[in-house]
Amino acid sequence: MLTRRNMLRATTAAGVLAAVPAGVVVGSRSGTARAAESPFTTPLKVPTPIRPVRLADHDFYRLTTREADVTVLPGTTTRIRSFNGTMSPLIVARRGRPVVIEQINRLNVPFSMHLHGGHTPGSSDGHPKYQVNPGDQRIFRYPNAQDAATLWIHDHTHHEHAENVYRGLAATYLVTDEFEESLPLPKGQYDVPLQLRDAEFEENGALVWDMHDFEGRHTVLVNGRPRPYFEVAARKYRLRLINTSNERLFLLQLGEGEGEEFTHIATDGGLLPAPVTTRLLQLWPGERHEIVVDFARYGVGRKLVLNNTYPYEGEAPGVMRFDVVREAADPSSVPSKLRPVPDFGTSQVEREFTMSFNPKTGEHLINNKPFDVDRVDIRPKLGVTETWKITNADTQYGIPHSMHPHLNAFKILDRNGKPPAAGEAGLKDTISVLAGESARIQLRFTDYEGLYMYHCHLLGHLQMGMMGQMDITR
Ligand code: C2O
Ligand code: CU
Ligand code: CU
Repeated sequence: MLTRRNMLRATTAAGVLAAVPAGVVVGSRSGTARAAESPFTTPLKVPTPIRPVRLADHDFYRLTTREADVTVLPGTTTRIRSFNGTMSPLIVARRGRPVVIEQINRLNVPFSMHLHGGHTPGSSDGHPKYQVNPGDQRIFRYPNAQDAATLWIHDHTHHEHAENVYRGLAATYLVTDEFEESLPLPKGQYDVPLQLRDAEFEENGALVWDMHDFEGRHTVLVNGRPRPYFEVAARKYRLRLINTSNERLFLLQLGEGEGEEFTHIATDGGLLPAPVTTRLLQLWPGERHEIVVDFARYGVGRKLVLNNTYPYEGEAPGVMRFDVVREAADPSSVPSKLRPVPDFGTSQVEREFTMSFNPKTGEHLINNKPFDVDRVDIRPKLGVTETWKITNADTQYGIPHSMHPHLNAFKILDRNGKPPAAGEAGLKDTISVLAGESARIQLRFTDYEGLYMYHCHLLGHLQMGMMGQMDITR
């Protein structure tokens, strides 16, 4: 069952998605669920890093996946699937120092832990063949031999991940490095990860789950709090935005009207080559974008709402509110150059990936095939540069897709033949492609052989088959 919805409405003014035809999403249900809370009444939770056990050459963590009862909406209790009983926990890692996680599965469903954006050996990458069954445990090794970036951990269980992620299994994972630390960017309490996602709740606080029906998800959560407020100082902050939603695009703007200016400094793979001043940011599921906002421009007493200018029908745009409440010294600044993008040389292999939907079976396909764990789709060679052309052929229904190859980040060569915008000029690991459009990316797999996945990061699509498998060899 397909229903139409106007994907253009909120965005043509901004011009960003002007090429999206009237869209279709699967499912619709008139909401009996709990109406949206009055916004900006709950304080933001800023996560403190989980403390590792520090061993000689690595940091050791134990992450227990289990159900937990937490308060999301004031006065109610929500049963979630959690890491260690909390929503949106934080791990901070350092380049070159491995993190080892013992994951203990106390859920009654299988779990497969994936470090999104991690340059990770295949046995620790969350491949379905390494799923951890209820009651079992597994050791994951993350070498962190990669540049500083904002990563996140989520479930990758075959046929369960969409629900597992929806029910709360998403952790923030930062890789830090010396180069980034040497820059005068905002640090410490002024460097804040923000996991953005949506959810739908019953009156009693229970999560409503229906993979095919997501337009009733009118409660936006930031770090597990509904449309929170955040008391900030009148100075610069680094905000690391992570979209952990199943299906939702956020089109973010700060303040009213045209929106306030902020500085885009990093994407999935870390720092951009140079900062970009902008007023609008697209944040697709799985993506990360980091911005620096200078609240000194507004002064104590101002309140600024971060809006999603692309809400669902009947949904409020406000995501969270920044309340400027105090003065603070600000030695930070954004340098005019950040980190250059590596040169992958000339591509020796070209591949094409066509993303499409089969309305008869409800499957989402790559090159006309749904995922098959027993089929290898492509065989890249270590150290060989490839160009992938990704085409979204879903013009009939106007369904957006994305592509996320595991293991290595990529460079965007072009979108519809045009060079990427400045905000997409850094290393990425997830790229959105609108219906009827195509993009070319350049990438090179390094260090690890084995089976890895690539897929659309709209989790319902991924669950309905939009994933392929590569066997990387020497
Ligand atoms: Cu967020 Cu297969 O990844
Ligand atoms: Cu990933
Ligand atoms: Cu898709």
